[in-house]
Amino acid sequence: MKRRHFIKGLAAAGVTSVLPTSSLGIALASCAAATSTETFDFDKRIDRDGTWSIRYGRATNGEVPLWIADMDFGTDPFVKAALEARIDRDVLGYTNIPPEFYDAIAGWQKNYYGYQVEREWINYVPGVITGMNQAYLTFTQPGDKIIVQPPVYDHFRLYIERLGRVAVDNPMILEGEHYKMDLEALEQLIDDRTKMLVLCNPSNPCGIHWERETLVQLADICDRHGVIVVSDEIHSDLTLYGVQHFPFCSVSEAATRVGMIFTGPTKSFNLAGLTGTAYCVIPNQELRERYTETLENCKMEEASIPTIVATIAAYRNDTRWLEALKHYIEGNVQRTLDFFSENQMGMTAFRPSASFLMWIDCRSLGLPQTDLMNRFKDGAKVILSNGASYGPGGEGFVRMNLGVPTSLLDEALGRIAREFGK
Ligand SMILES: Cc1ncc(COP(=O)(O)O)c(C=O)c1O
Repeated sequence: MKRRHFIKGLAAAGVTSVLPTSSLGIALASCAAATSTETFDFDKRIDRDGTWSIRYGRATNGEVPLWIADMDFGTDPFVKAALEARIDRDVLGYTNIPPEFYDAIAGWQKNYYGYQVEREWINYVPGVITGMNQAYLTFTQPGDKIIVQPPVYDHFRLYIERLGRVAVDNPMILEGEHYKMDLEALEQLIDDRTKMLVLCNPSNPCGIHWERETLVQLADICDRHGVIVVSDEIHSDLTLYGVQHFPFCSVSEAATRVGMIFTGPTKSFNLAGLTGTAYCVIPNQELRERYTETLENCKMEEASIPTIVATIAAYRNDTRWLEALKHYIEGNVQRTLDFFSENQMGMTAFRPSASFLMWIDCRSLGLPQTDLMNRFKDGAKVILSNGASYGPGGEGFVRMNLGVPTSLLDEALGRIAREFGK
């Protein structure tokens, strides 16, 4: 089945009326005109050969690479046009972060999540992980404990440990195909060396959005024990099926006191290669002042032109490209779920409620993790992410990237069926 998404032009939607007036002189308004005849065709196979793609760079033997989390789709045409318009101004000199950057973020948080963010709560950071690393350095000492809740994004543990802090696991509980946080164990785990908890909201790799009540309880526990919560919300714009994302700091007074949000349009608008379309939101003034000082001491308060332009353009509050994208991802999710339930191969795919990553349980195959990964890579010729890399509870699982044209996904599923359906 061919699924195309022809969405009417942006100018027709009155995009110009919500565009920030840019002190950078970016002709953003003209971008709306430039993209007014665009359609959103996620089926298109865009050749990434020669683009230095990390994901495709690993596919040296004709594999379909469905591992690292970027998508094969062109970014929102409006964002592309804004970038082109800025490059057309020719001079790429030292550049301030304009007020429009903060206004765009505050507008997005308000309109997309109903969260009222004050402009001064926002800081640009050159990447979500880079920003979180600066939080570890600001608020913890070498040897201090930072809690993570695996299976969870591997770069949390990686940098906590590289920076000489101790990553402590509070594994999630898996009931059937659903994960929940182990809040009882969390309270037992916290001791006087525990200074921070890193939350993946929504969760990568498990694709879970967190309910407000869970976040409220988490905030209460951390507030009681003076534990700062670093909430990584980079996948939040991609919640599926209309489920609601709750920015951590928005859920309660306690969360406002202990929380720091790190996020950006990187995943939702497929901007990972710009490296640094990110920001943090810190409502607690004391935490914010200490954190801002760290950024300034490291000369991290300056942003590159493409990151500023792309963020302003992405967060202009016309979400039709994003909604079309999510609809397309939902189609790929359903297709993959159907595939695994129709082809009984000893694998169960879990339905994600957020993002384009699918968490697949292969435990009943009974294969050691290395053999499992080799069967996918060398047998099926499909490269997936290794579940074990996400910490305890990830063994026996793989993560599959569904942010690709359906025809490529079908190719990968066909190869998996041929290898594992034997
Ligand atoms: C949960 C999560 N956080 C952060 C990142 C990376 O963000 P950045 O490139 O801004 O450091 C990723 C990328 O896959 C991710 O999945």
